[in-house]
Amino acid sequence: MKVLGIESSCDDTGIALIEDGHIIFNEILKQEHRKGVIPEYAAQAHHVALYENARKIIADHAIDLIAYTVGPGLIGSLFVGSSFAKGLAYSMNVDSIGINHLEAHIILPFWLARAVPIEFPYLSLLISGGHTLVVLVKELGGYEILSTTLDDAVGETFDKIARKLDLDYPGGPNIEKLALEAKCVYNFQFPRVMANNNDFSFSGLKTASFKQISEDMCLEAKADFCNQFQRHIAKILGEKMERMHKNAKEQFPMLLKHWVISGGVAANKVIRQYFDVLAAKNEVQVFYPPIEICTDNGVMIACLGELLYAKNGPSSLSVKPEAQMRLC
Ligand code: KG4
Ligand code: ZN
Repeated sequence: MKVLGIESSCDDTGIALIEDGHIIFNEILKQEHRKGVIPEYAAQAHHVALYENARKIIADHAIDLIAYTVGPGLIGSLFVGSSFAKGLAYSMNVDSIGINHLEAHIILPFWLARAVPIEFPYLSLLISGGHTLVVLVKELGGYEILSTTLDDAVGETFDKIARKLDLDYPGGPNIEKLALEAKCVYNFQFPRVMANNNDFSFSGLKTASFKQISEDMCLEAKADFCNQFQRHIAKILGEKMERMHKNAKEQFPMLLKHWVISGGVAANKVIRQYFDVLAAKNEVQVFYPPIEICTDNGVMIACLGELLYAKNGPSSLSVKPEAQMRLC
């Protein structure tokens, strides 16, 4: 079965084609938003990108199913992508299915892991621009949120701090890049906010970071800052994951053997290295999507579409996008 996946929840347009467990085509069209996403511009750019790029695939392949993002995300971007997908499905007389963006991030590594399959239940850490969640994945469609953020998401924190450091959007990759220049000459202090709580909070860390970033900060100091900041983030994420792992083990003492780390922030190599060590310490195997499909992409929408279509069948063409759509 050939599934076309269309992702348009924020600024990047993802178009992908999968067939029977394989990725045939994957294109991510990045938009230019140097100081942060402008929603009206993002919606318009999705429109142009979809019309220009989806045409190639439709011309070359007989599509069986079109999967598209219905939420959460920017409402204008969601409307453009879902209207395009449903219109296309109607005109081609094929089924379509609306997909939850969060669920797609969480399920992508499960779909990709064929050589070493991921087993339910697994513990998922979803770290993106809009969300920071620890989710116990009991089965496809069976989710329990164990931890969330009380304020900013982790990717949003990277982006806001990058902006303060005068780095372009998206901030995460630029912080990671500048951190490679660190010489560890300058020292910065970061608070361990909500250390004894199940939930995350990043606004205190953001304020403490802002106070240490001055307008005349030299590039060497900025590099040291980025290095220490991302290592601190890795530690916060790791502490919460370990805590939630212990809680989840009470529910599934023998079964919980796998962790999945996904969402745009999971592209960060320092965070991945930290979790490699932490997973070994907790005697679990950890999985990440390949870096090129960590940030938003059409593959994750297509693969969840394939799995849910097999389970529940298609969606109605009257499905409406939801900006605040929840995972469960
Ligand atoms: O999953 P995603 O593409 O979009 C949402 O669903 O939000 O995640 C985007 C977020 C942005 O905040 C971006 O700064 C962050 O992921 N990000 C990173 C890295 N690459 C992307 N954060 C840290 N390190 C990275 N290498
Ligand atoms: Zn995302």
